[in-house]
Amino acid sequence: MSAQLEKVKELIELRAQARLGGGEKSIQKQHDKGKYTARERIAMLLDEGSFEEFDMFVKHRCTNFGQDKKHFLGDGVVTGYGTIEGRLVYVFAQDFTVFGGSLSETMALKICKVMDQAMKMGAPVIGINDSGGARIQEGINALAGYAEIFQRNILASGVVPQISGIFGPCAGGAVYSPALTDFTIMTRGTSYMFLTGPKVVKTVTGEDVTQEQLGGASVHSTKSGVTHFAVDTEEDGLKLIRKLLGFIPQNNLEETPHIECFDPIDRLDDSLNEIIPDSPNKPYDMFEVIGAIVDNGEFLEVHGDYAKNIIVGFARFNGQSVGVVANQPKMLAGVLDSNASRKAARFVRFCDAFNIPLVTLVDVPGFLPGTGQEYGGVIMHGAKLLYAYGEATVPKITITLRKSYGGAHIVMSCKQLRGDINYAWPTAEIAVMGASGAVEVLYAKEVAAAENPAEVAAAKEDEYSKLFQNPYQAAKYGYIDDVIEPRNTRFRVIRALQQLATKKLTNPAKKHGNIPL
Ligand code: HXC
Repeated sequence: MSAQLEKVKELIELRAQARLGGGEKSIQKQHDKGKYTARERIAMLLDEGSFEEFDMFVKHRCTNFGQDKKHFLGDGVVTGYGTIEGRLVYVFAQDFTVFGGSLSETMALKICKVMDQAMKMGAPVIGINDSGGARIQEGINALAGYAEIFQRNILASGVVPQISGIFGPCAGGAVYSPALTDFTIMTRGTSYMFLTGPKVVKTVTGEDVTQEQLGGASVHSTKSGVTHFAVDTEEDGLKLIRKLLGFIPQNNLEETPHIECFDPIDRLDDSLNEIIPDSPNKPYDMFEVIGAIVDNGEFLEVHGDYAKNIIVGFARFNGQSVGVVANQPKMLAGVLDSNASRKAARFVRFCDAFNIPLVTLVDVPGFLPGTGQEYGGVIMHGAKLLYAYGEATVPKITITLRKSYGGAHIVMSCKQLRGDINYAWPTAEIAVMGASGAVEVLYAKEVAAAENPAEVAAAKEDEYSKLFQNPYQAAKYGYIDDVIEPRNTRFRVIRALQQLATKKLTNPAKKHGNIPL
């Protein structure tokens, strides 16, 4: 064998060694836990054969605690680039088979390299987290490595999309990298995120909790809202990342991907002309409206298990990707509260950062009253949504289906928050408050003094309803651009999006605003 062939053989062997990560035993352990390895995950995530790996031969540099005798090629993370549906993406996947995926100085350098590359190229970064946290043997160098990653997460925010899969442990300060990214996806039963684990919790607070109760996927998808999606399997999570990226541009300077639409743009849906119940207190399902108007009824809901009184997610109109924000009358009558406001505000800001037009469907009775909300700072949280809509410069189309009362009317992308097209269904009720509330304020004394208070109140409510509980008062002033036939909503939204395709609007120059965090 020639000297050159010898060297090629050595390279092939080294590559094979690197591909084994922490070794066959550790791979088996990973599989026994129902988890895939970093390379298997990347293979499932990317288009077949598209992965190009960086830094396979990187080794850690630590000599403490006998680490100089333990080396694995590539260290604890697999990094590189590939494509999803032919579009460039950068990836890193922590390799639990190497020191439990714990973060070393060199691992951080590998991760930072792909993040820097993604920023130069204007392409999304996908991180798969499965790690025991900072590599304990490396001390401060591991912490510094985390900080380098966080800094890049922050600078990349709003420039390239960042998505985190949490497919194993993610604890301590390590959770802040996913938290800084745009979307997180957790696997049920095999992943968790917390700042301090059950043992520390027990010591400090005396509370007995399991990892799952403290930071499992169900907790973060329903209670804390930390994760946007909870999935049953890693395959589901990886498919979801591919699907999600299909709605999002590569970076903040590009337009959203446009796909060919076979769903007729002028498709009428007669059921929408009868979907609003006669009684204003009866709910209906906003998902039915969304399904009826978007391309092929396809809607990718984000944060679906959290603050269900508001719906956010991605859909397409005539192949154009949009962000949908909609009150859900079926849940707490569609009222806005702190969690719903935060959820929607974050989504609106994501869409605005990445040039994704917003379609807002309104049926909101107002903000949830009471001490629970006020003590929790609903004023600040509601203001977040107000701010998000008000600063957004992407095309904004708002359809008011039924209720649109008071502050909630303003917050839900009204005309004066630079709504581009504001339509209403004939069933819209756009007013300061509902009839009974208004009569109580305006006619309390008169009603109380009447011989038949119920009748007087009903008459006053009727008078108020006739005057205000309709879309025509708002339309009279041009706050509503048109009152539309519900069954024609799809076509009207598509027309509006076409009209707004060349929209140019900028905010005043500033370092950054001061959104009420
Ligand atoms: C070095 C680690 C490690 C770590 C795990 N390993 N975590 N090595 N530093 N942080 C090693 C283990 O020693 C073991 O090595 C291998 O990885 C697999 O770990 P196991 O414990 O066998 O796996 P499992 O039973 O599945 O438990 C996983 C685990 C546990 C729950 C993650 O390993 C664990 O509790 N690790 C410590 C977590 C932690 O406290 N990290 C520091 C958090 S603070 P061998 O050689 O036996 O295979 C932090 C600060 C970040 O991260 C701050 C950022 C700002």
